[in-house]
Amino acid sequence: MAAFKRNILITGGAGFIGNHVVRLFVNKYPDYRIINLDKLTYAGNLANVSDVACRGNYVFAKCDICDAAAVAELFARYDIDGVIHLAAESHVDRSIHDPMAFARTNVLGTLTLLQAALEHWRGGDMSGKRFYHISTDEVYGALHAEGGFFTEATRYDPHSPYSASKASSDHFVRAFHDTYGMPTLVTNCSNNYGPRQFPEKLIPLFVNNIRRRRPLPVYGRGLNVRDWLYVEDHARAIDLIFHHGHAGETYNIGGHNEMRNIDMVKALIAVTDRLLGRADGEDSGLITYVTDRAGHDLRYAIDASKLERELGWRPQVSIAEGLELTVKWYLDNQQWLDSVTSGEYMNYYEKMYGNR
Ligand code: NAD
Ligand code: TYD
Repeated sequence: MAAFKRNILITGGAGFIGNHVVRLFVNKYPDYRIINLDKLTYAGNLANVSDVACRGNYVFAKCDICDAAAVAELFARYDIDGVIHLAAESHVDRSIHDPMAFARTNVLGTLTLLQAALEHWRGGDMSGKRFYHISTDEVYGALHAEGGFFTEATRYDPHSPYSASKASSDHFVRAFHDTYGMPTLVTNCSNNYGPRQFPEKLIPLFVNNIRRRRPLPVYGRGLNVRDWLYVEDHARAIDLIFHHGHAGETYNIGGHNEMRNIDMVKALIAVTDRLLGRADGEDSGLITYVTDRAGHDLRYAIDASKLERELGWRPQVSIAEGLELTVKWYLDNQQWLDSVTSGEYMNYYEKMYGNR
C-alpha cells in the first residue's frame, strides 16, 4: 500500500456538499488518501463522485456512521488522522415528519465518529489530528426581517428537529475538545446552492419543476430570507479551515447574498426560461403559494468576518454567476435529474461495486 502523507475520512461524500469537498481534496492533494464514508441514503449518489472514483488516492466505504464497529475498523484500517464530517440527514421538511432519523444520524452518528476518533488517537500526540464538523447557521434560530447577523457568539436557538439535532452534535464536538483535548473545528454555514443538490431543496426542485412546467410550491408568502453561498466557495472554505483553522474554534461561513424566497424564485424562472429559449417570465404562472412550513424560520444571515479576518477567506462566486452556473448545470444534466427523481440512481452502487 502506497504511503500517503495524510489519511482523511470525509463522511457524506456522496451527498451534495460532500461530493464537491471530495473532488477538491482528491484533485488538490494527490499525496492524501481520501476515504469517502457514506451510507448512501436517498441523498447519497455515487454518480456524484464518478469522476474521481478510479483515482489512486480515493477509497469509497459504504458505511453507516452509527455503526461503531464498522467506523472503528475504518479508522484502524486507514490510520485516519483527519475527519471532515458532513454525513447527516439534512432536509428540514423531512425532519418535521421523522425527527428520530435526525437524532439517530446527526446526534448519535456524530458521537459514534467522535468516540472512534478518540479511541484511535488517544495515547498519542493528538496535536496534528483534526476532527472537523460541518454544521449550519440554522442552529442560531431566526433573525428579524430587517438587520442583524449571526456571529459565532450568537446564542443557539434551534427551532426545527433538523437544527436541534445539528445544535446537539455541535455541542458534542466542542465537548470532545474541552473534555479530551481533541483538536476539533466547527463551522456554521448558510444555505448552499450549486450542482448535484438533491431536488427536494428549493433551487434544484424549482429548476426541475420549471423545466417540466410543474407548480412551484412557495411556502407562506415567500417572504422568508435565506443567505445563499455557492457550494464550491463552501468547499474552498472547508479546505482552508481544515488546514489553517485553530483547534477548538468555530467559524461562520456565508455569502452575504440575502434573498427573499419569492425573489429567488423569480430569478430562477428568469434564468431557466432564458436558457431554455422560452419567453421572459413565461413560467411565472407556475408560482403557487402553499401552506407555510411549520416553525419556518423567517430570516438567516451570516456575519463571516471572523473567517475573512483570521484566515483571509472570501467567496469568489457572485449570486448572479452562481445561479447561471447552477441552472445551466441542471439543464445540461437533465439525465442526472431524471435518474434522481425516478430513483434509478439507487442502483449505482451495485453497478460500480457489485453486491458486497
Ligand atoms: P445531503 O443530504 O445532500 O448529503 C448527506 C450525505 O450523508 C448523503 O450522501 C447521505 O447518504 C449521507 N448520510 C446520511 N446519513 C448517513 C449515515 N447514517 N451514515 C453515513 N452517511 C450518511 O446533505 P448536504 O446538503 O450535502 O449537507 C452536508 C452537511 O452540511 C450536513 O451536515 C448539513 O447539515 C451541512 N450543511 C448543509 C447546508 C446546505 O445548504 N445544504 C448548509 C450548511 C450546512
Ligand atoms: P430549503 O432549500 O429546504 O433549505 P432550508 O430549509 O434549509 O433553508 O428551503 C429554502 C427556503 O425555501 C426555505 O425558506 C423554505 C423555502 N421552500 C419553499 O418555499 N418551497 C419549497 O418547496 C421548498 C423545498 C423550500
